[in-house]
Amino acid sequence: MSNLKELENNLKEIVKKAGYEVDKLSLTPSNRRDLGEYQLNDAMQLAKTYHENPQIIATNIVEELKKNENYTNINIAGPGFINLSLSENYKIEILNRIHKDIFSNIEKKEHKKIIIDYGGANVSKALHVGHLRSANLGEALKRLGKLLGYEVLGDAHLGDYGRPLGLVILEIKKLYPDLKYFDKDYTGNYDDIELPITNVDLEKIYPKASLKSKEDETYLEEAREITMKVQNKERGYYELWKKVVEISKADIKKIYDKLNVNFELWLGESDSVEHFEELNTIFEQKNLLTISDNAKIIEVAEEKDTSPMPPLLFIKSNGTISYETTDLATILQRKKEFNPDEIWYVVDARQSLHFEQVFRAARKASLIDDEVNLEFIGFGTMNGKDGKPFKTRDGGVMTLKSLINLVKEETLKRINPDTINDEEKDAIAETVAIAALKYADFLPFRATDYVFEVEKFADLEGKTGPYLLYSTIRMKSLLNKAKTLKQDSIRKLNSQTENDIALMILQLSQVLTKSLETKSLNEIAEYLYNLTSLYNKFYAENKVLTEKDQQLQESWLVLTKVVYNINNMLLEILGINVPNKM
Ligand code: ARG
Repeated sequence: MSNLKELENNLKEIVKKAGYEVDKLSLTPSNRRDLGEYQLNDAMQLAKTYHENPQIIATNIVEELKKNENYTNINIAGPGFINLSLSENYKIEILNRIHKDIFSNIEKKEHKKIIIDYGGANVSKALHVGHLRSANLGEALKRLGKLLGYEVLGDAHLGDYGRPLGLVILEIKKLYPDLKYFDKDYTGNYDDIELPITNVDLEKIYPKASLKSKEDETYLEEAREITMKVQNKERGYYELWKKVVEISKADIKKIYDKLNVNFELWLGESDSVEHFEELNTIFEQKNLLTISDNAKIIEVAEEKDTSPMPPLLFIKSNGTISYETTDLATILQRKKEFNPDEIWYVVDARQSLHFEQVFRAARKASLIDDEVNLEFIGFGTMNGKDGKPFKTRDGGVMTLKSLINLVKEETLKRINPDTINDEEKDAIAETVAIAALKYADFLPFRATDYVFEVEKFADLEGKTGPYLLYSTIRMKSLLNKAKTLKQDSIRKLNSQTENDIALMILQLSQVLTKSLETKSLNEIAEYLYNLTSLYNKFYAENKVLTEKDQQLQESWLVLTKVVYNINNMLLEILGINVPNKM
């Protein structure tokens, strides 16, 4: 049980002793610390239930509170708000418990199995800025969910189906028409064929093919035919596609690794297709398919709709299946293979209509139990200074690789040349760059757009990743220097700053829960900054290593350690690594 929860339970008991029952206590940290650290606001609600004057209720509760030595500074404000503070001893006791076991301050959730779909990288296309938020958010939600007791599986859900694959294969065919893959009479082993293409080539091939297809109708038609060939697993074409996926996947994985993003499952759209037959049967048997212009569609509009809800395109008029349909088939697949309690989709907010259509169709056909929560977790875009999605200088798509390098150029300038040699420099600058990029991405509420400002993100001062890293490294270095000194328990809280730190530590569990509820990491990002800033204030106020009062010094070191551990835990949730120095 978290310490905050324990506090709430304890207060509930006290309210009960005063003669009242509350279900959910309304305890909030006060912003007038001089009046009390917390405010208990239940008297007003109780007044309604018990038909009693709130002032009298508050007085009765206060009387009980005063008997308990955990609370001090108890007073009534206004119509019946109770202000109270925690006694120093109680705070110290809690902090020492957290020092022994950081998890004693974390509220666990009931077990649930959740699949988070947060990759969405498209095979043969480079990962670009649009994939950044999905990866950051999804990974962090997964780590947070696991910490709070859920069983969570992350799925990359690769975009490996549909027209792009036809375009890529067609362009390869134009470049290397003699490749054995295109030879109908080839009977040998495809594994023996040397493919003269690297991931760098692939990144160029797709945009080129895509452009050609827009200008040339026959080219597009050819690509369509090839798409069909791959989807029908025609020997040669299908084998080549598998090879392309392999090359592309290895490259995609490298970038995800840089971002500390790991998937438990590397499934793709194409893996869902084997469930298509069954999916089709389910929809047919339930009479949910309508023919319209040679296509099969599913009506998903509802009476309550206030904006247009177009039908879901199930099978296109040319017989191929749509992006919506692969998502439906994936739901079926996930249900059969993993039987999750929830599926979360961390995808660009601009795809909300797509998911609304998919979820409605899935519900209509009862593809998955009603209790299984399907949740679209849409995020805003990272924009350039012009307010449009961030692009390269010449208006092209900014790959994630280039984006990371852009930030790295900036962090390289700030690496301390006195302590870091040339060999280490690059790796450290990259770690700091990733921290800068990720932290800036978490700071706004996830559905909010934000502007990419490299100097600001990389700054060592302010609400930035580098500031957090720098401060955390400094805590570690202090603890290292004090290795031989006693670091057992906190014995006193000396100053207002220390007291503020203690209260903030108590809030940790709530911050975690709130982040999980809102499916946004901004609360955690904000908390990290606030806790770190408070700690830095304390650091500036005191000379820990030369302090003569040993009990005080020990208390300070333990306080440092608790903050250091919390910082590490939260940075770990955010997928941000802390370098040894910077
Ligand atoms: N590959 C898609 C894209 O780049 C994103 C996939 C999101 N996940 C999903 N289940 N549809 O737009």
